Amino acid sequence: MSVCRKMFLLLFTMLFVSYASLSQAAGDPVKGKDKAGACTGCHGEDGNSLAPNFPKLAGQYADYIVKQVNDFLQNKRSDQVMSGMAATAGGPENLADIAAFFASQKTMKGSPLKSATVRQGKKLYLKGDQKRGIYACVNCHGKNGKGASKSNPFFPVIGGQHKAYLSKTLKDFRAKTRSNDPGGMMADIAKKLSDTDIAAVSDYLAGL
Ligand code: HEC
Ligand code: HEC
Repeated sequence: MSVCRKMFLLLFTMLFVSYASLSQAAGDPVKGKDKAGACTGCHGEDGNSLAPNFPKLAGQYADYIVKQVNDFLQNKRSDQVMSGMAATAGGPENLADIAAFFASQKTMKGSPLKSATVRQGKKLYLKGDQKRGIYACVNCHGKNGKGASKSNPFFPVIGGQHKAYLSKTLKDFRAKTRSNDPGGMMADIAKKLSDTDIAAVSDYLAGL
């Protein structure tokens, strides 16, 4: 195992342990369904939003949803639309229920495209690019972008997400207009990605 990989693993473990200890009691998806009315107008009745600028939340880890909404509330992440919406979740208990509801829905899914860019995106996702120091996405986001493991909410589900949202958020990480990623993990990777890489990997992921 290379030193670099060992350091990565160590970092993950440390971050995961601190994250897990912060996470709240599990919410109630049944109660969450009623409470999610403040969110479904944009994110979809079952968390599968129609408009590509509203991310899908269906099948996302509940703790990841909670973290993101808290980041918006605390201004660690900001967006013209969502920053104003975070408070409508109505406090930690309601938020936990809403998150549990979206997490319990059938996981986000796209329709696969076939093109040269999809193949290029798949290669980047699975293999990274050693020459340019790009660590492969699959190591953290798991097979088909469906997350690293059921018990690790740290690395979000990204397979089947809208292409436009994926590209936007990757560019936000690159420009550091989104900087709520623990340890700057995504910024480190995104800064090495070209516009072509971002378009290709988003094309691939959106189809999973
Ligand atoms: C008026 C539309 C709108 C409403 C209502 C809304 N959101 Fe959002 N939400 C957005 C947009 C737009 C983004 C993407 C922000 C960005 O591009 O950074 C977002 C992002 C998010 C994210 C981050 C997803 C990710 O993959 O990182 C979460 C979680 C979220 N919203 C949860 C909620 C919850 C919970 C509610 C209800 C309390 C809600 N939203 C209500 C528009 C909305
Ligand atoms: C070292 C681990 C790691 C690697 C490798 C990695 N990511 Fe991430 N990624 C993360 C973490 C952690 C987050 C969550 C950031 C947060 O908490 O806001 C994230 C978030 C994201 C998001 C935002 C999801 C959302 O809806 O909020 C996208 C998109 C993403 N990564 C794409 C990629 C792509 C594409 C690659 C490969 C080019 C990649 N990641 C490689 C750790 C990684």
